[in-house]
Amino acid sequence: MQNSVIQQYRTSANLDARIALHARFSINPYPWMRWVFDRLTLPPVCRVLDLGAGTASLWTTNQDRIPEGWDITLSDFSPGMLAQARAALSAVAHPFAFEVVDAQAIPYEDGVFDAVIANHMLYHITNLPRALAEMRRVLKPDGLLITSTVGERAMAELWALVEPFRPGLWERVCALTANYNLENGAAQLAAYFKSINRYDYIDGLIVTEAEPLLAYILSSQTLQKQPLSQAERLALQSEIAARITAEGAIRITKIAGVFVARDRV
Ligand SMILES: C[S@@+](CC[C@H](N)C(=O)[O-])C[C@H]1O[C@@H](n2cnc3c(N)ncnc32)[C@H](O)[C@@H]1O
Repeated sequence: MQNSVIQQYRTSANLDARIALHARFSINPYPWMRWVFDRLTLPPVCRVLDLGAGTASLWTTNQDRIPEGWDITLSDFSPGMLAQARAALSAVAHPFAFEVVDAQAIPYEDGVFDAVIANHMLYHITNLPRALAEMRRVLKPDGLLITSTVGERAMAELWALVEPFRPGLWERVCALTANYNLENGAAQLAAYFKSINRYDYIDGLIVTEAEPLLAYILSSQTLQKQPLSQAERLALQSEIAARITAEGAIRITKIAGVFVARDRV
């Protein structure tokens, strides 16, 4: 497991900053997590495993429509993240199980889940073939794998703001998700599943405040390897604020979607 990924998700702070920017400034009025949940076409009684569940936002956002008969396990390799997920769901009536799990070694029997979910997490996996084989193994033969990810050049305008401070950073940010993105995900899933459908979520950001955008940038795993000094941080904040004043907002292209895979090879 990469140390930088472990550091990134030790607590939910970095993920929280990113979710907050999307929650406040996204154009699409239909929330991302509602849209992802719509892909979960499952029977009223079934068993679901969410891998790398993060702060449980899939389940908090859809708490009003979780079927009673769904037996749901939230898992994450980070105990800190899982504690946050548990706290976020403490007021939700539906029962959930919580388990620390590395997606590369899933501690369940073969063929027990009707659905496995892996949202925005497969690109973090060091041994992706092993994780995909594990997901297929724990799925029932007709089970569903739902995995969301980003497109190759997502959020270019945001990273362009940082380029003067850390030349080449965006290329390194893109490299972080390059092993599993919308462009190459289907080909990788095809080794394990016969039917794969891609769904794209149409959205963008119109950001009208500097602070949440700066917080998003500072949450980046890549930037945290070469942190900005206090002076650089203030300069970036001023640059963002000046752009917003001049143009009314900073517009950012989002590219994200979901693969729905079924029928084990
Ligand atoms: C970008 S967050 C996504 C969280 C959540 N699925 C969502 O969409 O909001 C990635 C999550 O994957 C988890 N993660 C990274 N590598 C993992 C692994 N090998 N096994 C399980 N979880 C992992 C991280 O701790 C983090 O919570």
